[in-house]
Amino acid sequence: MVFGVILAGGIGSRMGNVEKPKQYLKVGNKPIIIHTIEKFFVHEAFTKLLVLCPKQWVENTRNLVKKYLGAGAEHVVVLEGGTTRNETIMNSIAYIEKEYGVDDDTLIVTHDSVRPFLTYRIIEENIKYGLEYGAVDTVISATDTIVESVDGKAITSVPDRKKMYQGQTPQTFKAKKLRELYLSLSEEEKEILTDASKIFVIKGEKVYLVEGEVFNIKITYPYDLRVAESLIQDQKSGK
Ligand code: CTP
Repeated sequence: MVFGVILAGGIGSRMGNVEKPKQYLKVGNKPIIIHTIEKFFVHEAFTKLLVLCPKQWVENTRNLVKKYLGAGAEHVVVLEGGTTRNETIMNSIAYIEKEYGVDDDTLIVTHDSVRPFLTYRIIEENIKYGLEYGAVDTVISATDTIVESVDGKAITSVPDRKKMYQGQTPQTFKAKKLRELYLSLSEEEKEILTDASKIFVIKGEKVYLVEGEVFNIKITYPYDLRVAESLIQDQKSGK
């Protein structure tokens, strides 16, 4: 079984002083989270779409899903997220375990709720290679040179740009393996995690690459909202 797991448990602190978490702000007259859910909704491979959000937003999110998806809302389950992004993912696996059971091939396609521009092709390749390899990450080649600085004051190294990529989502995993590896991490290891792929990397497991898209942006800062609005307008006018 394959599940879409839409991560919306964050509060969007980098967006600044807005009245709600950024995933509920509107672009193109629709909440960002709804655009994202719709991209998953048109894909036929998913048993269910799980949407995980802050506890106090669960009811509101259920209502939004009903409002925008109508009868399709039955395909979507809204759940409470966790205190970190990876804990949110663990909540999704706990739900799948309880309702369906988790076996070696249970696949979760995890995606940031604030990346509404992913494509059908990206989801398709995540599923295909996820089933084949067990762990995949969506990336694009780095356009800027990446510079490393350990102290934030001076450059420590300049890695070869040809080998550098920028991570996006979806990130797709065999759920059982992901949980097993996550539970085996020490507290120190958990602290240095920025995403779920790193769990595999820390434990010496391979994560394969799926090619993303430059426009598959994560809405993080107010500037990104303006970019998102113009991308939506381009889509509407078929550009
Ligand atoms: N996320 C989540 N559970 C958490 C934290 C984050 O599901 N406990 C989700 C966010 O809702 C978002 C995605 O992970 O869709 C990517 O995270 P990020 O852009 O960092 O979101 P926030 O944590 O909300 O933003 P910020 O770091 O600015 O507070």
